[in-house]
Amino acid sequence: MTNQNQLKLSPQAEAIQQKLVQLIQEKIRNSDTKEIGFDDFVNMALYEPQLGYYQNNLRTFGEQGDFITAPEMGNLFAHGIAKSIKDALSEAGMSILEIGAGSGQLATDLLLTFNNENLKYLILEPSATLQSLQNETIKTQADKFYQQVTWLNNLPENFEGIIIANEVMDAIPCQMIQKQEDKQDGWHYLNVGLDEGGGFVWQAGEAVELSSLPAALQSEDYPADYMTELRPWLSGWIKGLSKCLKKGAVLLFDYGYGQSEYYHSQRLKGTLQCFSRHTKNDNPFQLVGLQDITAHVDFTQVIETAHNEGFDIEGYTTQAGFLIENGILDQQAAVDEKQQYMMSQQIQKLTTQGQMGEIIKVIGLSKQMTADLKGFDLQCQLHRL
Ligand SMILES: C[S@@+](CC[C@H](N)C(=O)[O-])C[C@H]1O[C@@H](n2cnc3c(N)ncnc32)[C@H](O)[C@@H]1O
Repeated sequence: MTNQNQLKLSPQAEAIQQKLVQLIQEKIRNSDTKEIGFDDFVNMALYEPQLGYYQNNLRTFGEQGDFITAPEMGNLFAHGIAKSIKDALSEAGMSILEIGAGSGQLATDLLLTFNNENLKYLILEPSATLQSLQNETIKTQADKFYQQVTWLNNLPENFEGIIIANEVMDAIPCQMIQKQEDKQDGWHYLNVGLDEGGGFVWQAGEAVELSSLPAALQSEDYPADYMTELRPWLSGWIKGLSKCLKKGAVLLFDYGYGQSEYYHSQRLKGTLQCFSRHTKNDNPFQLVGLQDITAHVDFTQVIETAHNEGFDIEGYTTQAGFLIENGILDQQAAVDEKQQYMMSQQIQKLTTQGQMGEIIKVIGLSKQMTADLKGFDLQCQLHRL
């Protein structure tokens, strides 16, 4: 586990952390109950303008940053997506909308892969800092297509095309809940309060309404103190996608499981993780604004909401299954020996079982489409939701 004391922070990082901690402390002190929900804490830690982890201008993505996502490993992830959506994109009208585009690498690689001047590429990105990074990445690596890219502040209406989001749902703030010591008393929220020195601490909050819990948590017998996450805002986010999409398809990639695996009674501490300099830890109260805070996605919640919102379900599978079916292994045949070596490392990272290849899932949704999204037949996992 990374300890804040082991990391040498730059004066800029120290200053950001100090300001952000003060702001959150003020919010807690000003609240009636002297506590805030964990989702409010994460929202400020990640998205507070200029200071939050995704809003400040300290490096986040890639080898120099805190974590590596699939598009940062090379262009094979984009090639797989391009193959999957090719037919659907033609049918729905040559527009891609990427939500939460990070460094802009996936946008760049998709523009280069399609190499099509009729392709419109829209990006919805809440972070001004990341918007300018995306701008720079696309301009530097795919200048020819730069004019085809538009940044949006809100989801468009009546969108016709393909929506893509990689590792966005897990960045939507979650709430924490805990099974009470006396199991008859059900569950309570774990909120964030302050200790005597002003440090952030978990604080038992109000009881959780049983009917608001996922079915698994209502019925199973969980040990006292079992902790896990709820992400009520995710359902609203999917509703938003449904309202936005008139005709086309959606591809969502993220770390996660179906409900029975997610809320397994032996997963005692849930799935909350923090990342800093490629090191994982489980303490969201350190390195505030300087580390990513994430929890896995409950894909049963995603698919149930999508179904209720009128989406057709194209499929659900692992990242490895999706990329292999979309020809990731064939890419090596077209390059020389040195590139083959580099590519084999990339393929290994993207498809390794027990890691990214298996824990990252992809879900495909569509509306009013006849063309299929490719990649969901080889390792269909719908039965696990
Ligand atoms: C873990 S990063 C993933 C970035 C990129 N997709 C990748 O794969 O490298 C999460 C991204 O989602 C964005 N994000 C978080 N919440 C969002 C929301 N509600 N709507 C749109 N983007 C969001 C963040 O600003 C960031 O760009």
